[in-house]
Amino acid sequence: MSEIKTIGVYTSGGDAPGMNAAVRAVVRTAIYHGLKVKGIRRGYEGMIHNEIINLDRQSVANIIQRGGTFLKTARSEAFMTKSGRQQAYDNLKRNNIDALVCIGGNGSYTGANIFNQEFGVPCVGLPGTIDNDLFGTDYTIGYDTAINTALDSIDRIRDTAHSHERVFIVEVMGRDSGFIALDVAIAGGAEGALIPEDISDWDKVLNHFNRPGRRKKSFSIIVVAEGDEQGGALVLEKKLTELYPDLKIRSTILGHVQRGGSPSARDRILASRLGSEAVKALIAGQTTITVGIISDEVVYTPFDLAINGKKSVDPALIELAEILAI
Ligand code: F6P
Repeated sequence: MSEIKTIGVYTSGGDAPGMNAAVRAVVRTAIYHGLKVKGIRRGYEGMIHNEIINLDRQSVANIIQRGGTFLKTARSEAFMTKSGRQQAYDNLKRNNIDALVCIGGNGSYTGANIFNQEFGVPCVGLPGTIDNDLFGTDYTIGYDTAINTALDSIDRIRDTAHSHERVFIVEVMGRDSGFIALDVAIAGGAEGALIPEDISDWDKVLNHFNRPGRRKKSFSIIVVAEGDEQGGALVLEKKLTELYPDLKIRSTILGHVQRGGSPSARDRILASRLGSEAVKALIAGQTTITVGIISDEVVYTPFDLAINGKKSVDPALIELAEILAI
């Protein structure tokens, strides 16, 4: 039988659609198993400043469909200091919290891992980020919604690009990774995908415009991940304009629009499964792991591996994007 009586749940780092569904699943599964749950607002900041609230089954009613995170989130510098973490620990004790579910990305996992090493509080991480760049799961909570949001924008841009015979460079999120850009480029029928994982992507774009007869094509969509080494949309617009002064080029940066909105069915289901599994993992005595889903199986990954492991984009998808752009 588990020693855990009260679980603290928090969302941390960049918000992602589906975080509410994950919190709801944590709360309801914990209550189902006879545990208490407390919500820690604003991630590690709320832990440090004692912004901790009781949650019951009703507190998480009517949130499964909402974007953002009702607990709010933050990127905490104070938690990077030992004194900040000590304050956070004191507040957990004050609130009788004896285990944590952390919903966030790599930085949030890192914080939880260090916290566990220092104070021994059991902690399970759930992958919550639109970037999909976390090791230990096929998909992160929020990714599916984000790519559908970006795709909707690209479809709209395609209409105006076609009407004006313009080239559009569309910048999507993805600080260090090209999952969003690559999937959206394929789904949106783009002529180019520039991602940090593909060092020859710029040459492919140039080949596209240099191909005989190619420049007569009336319009093109090039998708770039914000973290691409060539630079963002505005930099690329300048570079392409210098090389091809006759092209009519425009840039669109989709930005934080990709982080908002009601979560897709896929994200709600993923978040519900993972939230529930996180509680079961804690009850079973697991700690310092993340819970993910790989090939439809629930998988535990030690924090160290989840933090340091590199999730790669599928090279077959890079090739597919190139083939379909001819
Ligand atoms: O990690 C998710 C993400 O949306 C990245 O794609 C992006 O680079 C970053 O967060 C933006 O962070 P912020 O909202 O703090 O500017």
